[in-house]
Amino acid sequence: MTTALITGTTAGIGAAFASRLAADGHNLVLVARDEKRLRDQAADLHDRHGVEADVLRADLSEDDGIAAVEERLGDRKHPIDLLVNNAGFGNKGRYLEAPLADELRMMKVHCEAVLRLTTAAAETMRTRGRGGVINVASIAAFFPRGTYGASKAWVVQFTQGAARDLASSGVRLMALCPGFVRTEFHARAGIKPDSVPSWMWLDADKVVTEALKDFARGKALSIPDPRYKAMTGLAKLAPRAALSVVSSNVGRPPKR
Ligand SMILES: NC(=O)c1ccc[n+]([C@@H]2O[C@H](COP(=O)([O-])OP(=O)(O)OC[C@H]3O[C@@H](n4cnc5c(N)ncnc54)[C@H](OP(=O)(O)O)[C@@H]3O)[C@@H](O)[C@H]2O)c1
Repeated sequence: MTTALITGTTAGIGAAFASRLAADGHNLVLVARDEKRLRDQAADLHDRHGVEADVLRADLSEDDGIAAVEERLGDRKHPIDLLVNNAGFGNKGRYLEAPLADELRMMKVHCEAVLRLTTAAAETMRTRGRGGVINVASIAAFFPRGTYGASKAWVVQFTQGAARDLASSGVRLMALCPGFVRTEFHARAGIKPDSVPSWMWLDADKVVTEALKDFARGKALSIPDPRYKAMTGLAKLAPRAALSVVSSNVGRPPKR
């Protein structure tokens, strides 16, 4: 039986990964900050699918939290076969509206934690000659959208580069770039769902199904929806200035 460690499992895309991987028979290590929610989720997954689900409470915006997950990933007696770096959030407002401390926290969770956890996992996986890492980025990686888009662009660039560097090691890496997915993300980030056109919304379970198909195909980048694939293609051709006007306004109230 294989074991997957997922960060940010208690809601949204992470919860969809946990349900799907448990249904496929993987044991799980569930990581997030809310211990009660983690314990309830672990019990539910165990009851429904008969898998072992361990709880690891960690705040990935803190060094101690990242270190605790690194330690678990480095445990060679209980190896992790698949790491899903999924935990993440959006800050409220445009650049200079969100406090700098919140922007730095985002960089810590989206970039430093992803780098450190990927490294802890990949080192052990390379020794074993097998394993995989899925880093959840965003379609925002391809559009100018403040610190959030920039941090997700880093996730894509880092993951694609690392995937190439580890190509013959048996360790596979993939960056996952969903568009708007119905989760708790938008309420937490102060984005009003009705400000996003209904055709742009994706379902978390479908995103995970497509992502796992792409991962099985050996892709280093997954954009799990044809509409968003087309948008990304167009974005490469559009002038950056025009692109930033559109991307900085989606899901946000008009500028004062
Ligand atoms: N929803 C979208 O439209 C969308 C689109 C593209 C990409 N994404 C990306 O997908 C990932 C998951 O987002 P989601 O939409 O599923 O969000 P969500 O529903 O808000 O879930 C976020 C999860 O991350 C955990 N988390 C947040 N901050 C954390 C921290 N400091 N340390 C540890 N865990 C933390 C949360 O649990 P606790 O609060 O208990 O810690 C929760 O389990 C994120 O990386 C996001 O950027 C989302």
